[in-house]
Amino acid sequence: MRHLVLLLAAVTVGCATDDAADEPLQSSEARSFPVFSPSRPDTSAAQGLQALQQDAWRRELRFMDAADPGFAFRSVRPTYGELEDRFSPEDWFSMGGQLFTMNFTEAQGFGGSDLPSMSRFHLGQRGGPDARRCSACHWRGGLAGAGDAADNAFFRGDGETESTALVRNPPPLFGAGWKQRLGEEMTAELQFRRDDAIAFARARGEDVRLHLEVRGVSFGFLSISRDGTVDDTDLEGIDADLIVRPFGWKGAFADLRDVVEDASNVHHGMQSSWFAANEDPARVGEGPTNDPDQDGVEDELSDAQVALMTMFAAMQDVPVELPPSGSGLLLLYARGRQDFTTLGCAECHVPSIEIEDAHYNLISRTGGPDLSINLLEAGAQPRLQPDVITGELRVPLYSDLKRHAMGDELAEPRDDAGVAADVFLTTPLWGIARSRPYLHDGRAPTLEDAIVLHGGEAQASRDAFVALPEDDRAPLRVFLTSLTRGERLASP
Ligand code: HEC
Ligand code: HEC
Repeated sequence: MRHLVLLLAAVTVGCATDDAADEPLQSSEARSFPVFSPSRPDTSAAQGLQALQQDAWRRELRFMDAADPGFAFRSVRPTYGELEDRFSPEDWFSMGGQLFTMNFTEAQGFGGSDLPSMSRFHLGQRGGPDARRCSACHWRGGLAGAGDAADNAFFRGDGETESTALVRNPPPLFGAGWKQRLGEEMTAELQFRRDDAIAFARARGEDVRLHLEVRGVSFGFLSISRDGTVDDTDLEGIDADLIVRPFGWKGAFADLRDVVEDASNVHHGMQSSWFAANEDPARVGEGPTNDPDQDGVEDELSDAQVALMTMFAAMQDVPVELPPSGSGLLLLYARGRQDFTTLGCAECHVPSIEIEDAHYNLISRTGGPDLSINLLEAGAQPRLQPDVITGELRVPLYSDLKRHAMGDELAEPRDDAGVAADVFLTTPLWGIARSRPYLHDGRAPTLEDAIVLHGGEAQASRDAFVALPEDDRAPLRVFLTSLTRGERLASP
């Protein structure tokens, strides 16, 4: 029986791709196996075949790893230069996906000698470790999706009790590259307008009150005096440095690479050489800079591996709007789409924001080549499409990328990342139908529960929804359910 399975795998793989699998195993050769692909064939039959071929490759890799333990990890450990010379963006996606789904081992550097072997409740900024792989938490709605309530992470506690930790539900990584790009463009525009106003105030010898509105989102006001000093008391939903930070429930990160390194460290105790050498000992451990967690493994994640995981996240597909097909439901959907605006949801969950440049750039910190992709061409399918008539490109995020005070009911036990306890980034609603449960700690099992729990700045909008009789609430729920991820076969 085992022989039959082996044979089947070999046959499927054989017809799927070239005969790379027949080459002899070499001990530290980086190789790209097509186990994940950013492309999604048009027909369901072709999609099915692709899934079977990928599964066969995965099986083959497992055999190779069984024959030569550590092979799978080494196969996704290229040098930084090789990323550009030997591999294509499609390879980056597949290799990044392999790292994202890999069960990290102690031999690779999992955990640390200053940490328990596993812990649900993180010890300060050092973390758990709480999982063997990224996809243990990011899976709902498909690979790199959201996490269930059981996958909640318990950050920055005393390492022993839930009540000391900040409870957070894993968000999906859909369209993450676009989120970062949008943040970057908005940041550049905000900072340019501030600098311009400072120069103007100085040159004219006049005080200036600047309304910071970019891409239709208002971030409040800056008061600039004629000597160039800036008063930021009236800023709204953003830090004083005017950096838009689209990642994390609190809006704590601007850059996916930072999130990848932070997540690798706190969830898995896997430290990149750069992170180990440059981060605060409170985050990485008190040991020497080449092995701060003192587990005897240096360079646990190479810079190239961090780049691969970052590119994998950045290249994630863009969620779609798929209205229901039955005519009765279609009417509800259309009404719900309107209600979303009339009820005031769209004031924070801004349906779409214009973006100019689709290039995602990963600048090397260690002298390697910079990696750049055009998300319109290399991102995973489905991709964003420019408007057919105007050519305009808009990111259908359903967020203003701003932070808002959400009231006492949703407040956490304490402030975090310099952000007040009751303040959260407007959660993007794209793909929302595939990312149950909802809210920062996953306390809301349904969309309706999530809305009803809104307070603070969203109180009026929430009250308007709650005041509707049951029949009139249905349209909004139907509309929200149309915000989903592109159809796909169930993935691992
Ligand atoms: C134990 C569960 C868990 C594991 C394992 C995990 N994550 Fe996460 N991830 C989370 C949670 C929870 C958040 C939200 C954190 C916050 O807002 O404070 C998050 C946030 C993120 C984000 C930001 C998404 C956004 O839009 O805000 C990215 C990117 C990410 N994780 C990538 C990774 C990668 C890469 C790995 C593996 C190295 C990983 N995660 C492992 C739970 C997990
Ligand atoms: C003042 C800004 C604001 C308004 C108005 C607002 N929201 Fe939100 N919304 C947020 C913030 C911030 C969060 C995240 C809160 C948290 O996680 O604790 C959120 C979370 C959500 C979530 C959960 C998302 C997830 O993935 O967990 C849904 C669903 C949602 N909002 C829908 C709506 C709808 C529908 C309306 C209109 C009835 C609305 N919101 C009005 C700011 C707003």
